[in-house]
Amino acid sequence: MKIDILTIFPEMFDGFLTTSIIKRAINQEKVQIKIHDIRKYSKDPHRKVDDYGYGGGKGMVLMPQPIFDAVDDLKDESSKVILMTPQGRPYKQSSAYTLAKEKHIIIICGHYEGFDERIRTLADMEISIGDYVLTGGELPSMVITDSIVRLLDGVIEEDSHKNDSFNNGLLDYPVYTKPVEFRGMKVPEVLLSGHHANIKKYRQQMSLEKTQDRRPDLLERDE
Ligand SMILES: C[S@@+](CC[C@H](N)C(=O)[O-])C[C@H]1O[C@@H](n2cnc3c(N)ncnc32)[C@H](O)[C@@H]1O
Repeated sequence: MKIDILTIFPEMFDGFLTTSIIKRAINQEKVQIKIHDIRKYSKDPHRKVDDYGYGGGKGMVLMPQPIFDAVDDLKDESSKVILMTPQGRPYKQSSAYTLAKEKHIIIICGHYEGFDERIRTLADMEISIGDYVLTGGELPSMVITDSIVRLLDGVIEEDSHKNDSFNNGLLDYPVYTKPVEFRGMKVPEVLLSGHHANIKKYRQQMSLEKTQDRRPDLLERDE
């Protein structure tokens, strides 16, 4: 899979691309992630990419020309163009599974007041990572990239993500590590028993109870 990210702050991605599972996935060529500075596509002599919005109001607006040219340059018939915006479709684990099947994703990060409305016409999807407003689309683009990359074949063991929260509409079961007892809190006996069928049953039950307790809305959904 190839992911191209368009941003005016490429340096924000340095730590993201050089740490932990994302770094390993890149090194093992499971994914190719390229960060593109939108300014490089600007035809303005000073590499300007934003300006004041028509009609007044505070805040700079990203101009269409550099972003249209960048998408024209990077896009081919297999590409999905995603625009990060708080006005987009709320992002879910099921969206990550769908996007993990794509060959090529181009992500456009807005900044400041946002982007010229005409940029929306470039997007196959508009995605929001939640009902709050961040200063730019860089963190949201990292959020969705991370959620996709960990699902790609061979990046992490399938067993590690198949029971993750939201798969099968439930939250994950509780997990414990050493020591068996810590500050009076004990690891449940069943997990020490070695009895696989009982462990499986216990985990299913805990998953259900946690979901009922914390996210009953998940049990009411049929998506
Ligand atoms: C300050 S925001 C602009 C918000 C815009 N004025 C609005 O209210 O819809 C700047 C950029 O950050 C990104 N952004 C902010 N919050 C986001 C969210 N919850 N999900 C996805 N992108 C977000 C978008 O790319 C957006 O264009």
